Amino acid sequence: MSQIAVIGAGYVGIPTAACFAHLGHHVVCADVDEARVAALMKGEVPILEEGLPALVMEGLQSGRLRFEVGAREAVRDAEFVFICVQTPQGANGAADLTVVEGVAREIAPILRPGTVVVNKSTMPVGSTDTVARALRSGGAAHDVGVASNPEFLREGQAVHDTLGPHRVVIGCDDTEVAVRVSELYRDIQAPVLVTDPASAEMIKYASNAFLATKISFVNEIANLCELVNADVREVVLGMGYDPRIGFEVLHPGPGFGGSCFPKDTFALLHTAQGAGYDFELLRSVIDVNLRQRALVVEKVRAAAGGDLSGVSVALWGLAFKANTDDLRDSPAVFVAERLLAEGAVVRAFDPAAGDAASVRLPGMAIAADVYEAASGASVLVLLTEWDEFRWADFERVRTSMKPPFAVVDARNLLDPAAMRRRGFAYQGIGR
Ligand code: NAD
Ligand code: UGA
Repeated sequence: MSQIAVIGAGYVGIPTAACFAHLGHHVVCADVDEARVAALMKGEVPILEEGLPALVMEGLQSGRLRFEVGAREAVRDAEFVFICVQTPQGANGAADLTVVEGVAREIAPILRPGTVVVNKSTMPVGSTDTVARALRSGGAAHDVGVASNPEFLREGQAVHDTLGPHRVVIGCDDTEVAVRVSELYRDIQAPVLVTDPASAEMIKYASNAFLATKISFVNEIANLCELVNADVREVVLGMGYDPRIGFEVLHPGPGFGGSCFPKDTFALLHTAQGAGYDFELLRSVIDVNLRQRALVVEKVRAAAGGDLSGVSVALWGLAFKANTDDLRDSPAVFVAERLLAEGAVVRAFDPAAGDAASVRLPGMAIAADVYEAASGASVLVLLTEWDEFRWADFERVRTSMKPPFAVVDARNLLDPAAMRRRGFAYQGIGR
């Protein structure tokens, strides 16, 4: 079993560290955020991720998982260093590698000879070389290796996806290094693809861009369905039975959000521009996505009679999708900001992201539950597909609302016929 350092205790770093410890490796996970590290040392996991608290506790109790402040302490004995820090959207849409390069320079003089630095953060083509250069300029030994090992986990299912990935991709020009990295995944049942660094880096962006394309595609089909009186749910069902199409990632909604699809599509577009290639399809995917968010605002405005000023609006859901507390690039936050800007009085409820949202959107009231959010509202907007919204007592919701009892269901979570029977003016997306 190996000595692993994981740099960055975020949505990727904590599951990566806890799962490697679960597989028997000795793992030190580092972050610069002292409060975060202190909490993790006590087994308190600062993000909502199913199964993760149990796995972190298991690692702490077995002694195979430790947390440290700062990367330097964590890498001292490491044979492998996984870089899991943020790579946010920078100028012109490019991925900003400042934090990654800073970590590489910081750890360079401390790494033992033969250590392998693994890029797990999402980084554009050429980043394996960028990190290698930063390590050299920081004084790393000449035999410190670098490999790309992109991460494909989904938030909310991080443990499931880390222990049961669809594939493991390793990009490295040095076969010996690639084999050493692949051995870390020995006990995981998944195909392992060893390739060159540029292809590994492109696999990550192409995968996210393709999934984003499916979403923008289905959102356009949904918008067209509305104009021709078709029901997008039936359409997707009929499409999905063809295994070449499938049912997954074809749910229409308020557009894709989160910390990855939006920034990664921009970063890939930037890579294409840099290479002198006009990636027309990807530009449209991004444009359609931005329009889709705005479309939800238009639906709410129309439901309120054309003017939102002074109108009470209830929002159900703020996180960028269900089963996460993550608000990064959430379509719900975009909608909330626009409604507030147009003078609506907004009260929101989210099962996990309410506290963080109250800091982001001080003009918006946060309710304790779905009923408090809906009380006195003329329009109810469902923005995140939390399962519990499906099971609300809609009789109670309706009697507490005001005319026109409008519901804009931006996730098609509810049954239109049942909602109309209960007296709501219901609208979904594409149906
Ligand atoms: P995150 O912001 O949740 O976590 C990054 C962590 O790194 C933060 O806690 C931050 O404090 C810490 N950090 C910053 N500088 C540091 C330093 N010098 N030393 C130690 N720690 C430091 O980010 P994330 O969502 O985990 O994403 C990390 C990377 O993984 C990104 O490139 C992202 O695109 C990619 N990715 C994310 C997901 C996802 O679902 N979130 C999935 C696949 C890939
Ligand atoms: C996504 C990918 O699914 C992961 O494989 C990848 O590792 C990750 O990005 C990343 O690179 O960070 P994640 O952002 O956690 O994972 O969330 P998804 O479940 O893919 O959803 C992304 C967005 O698309 C959400 O806003 C979601 O609501 C939206 N979506 C998803 C739809 O609108 N329709 C769908 O059918 C699926």
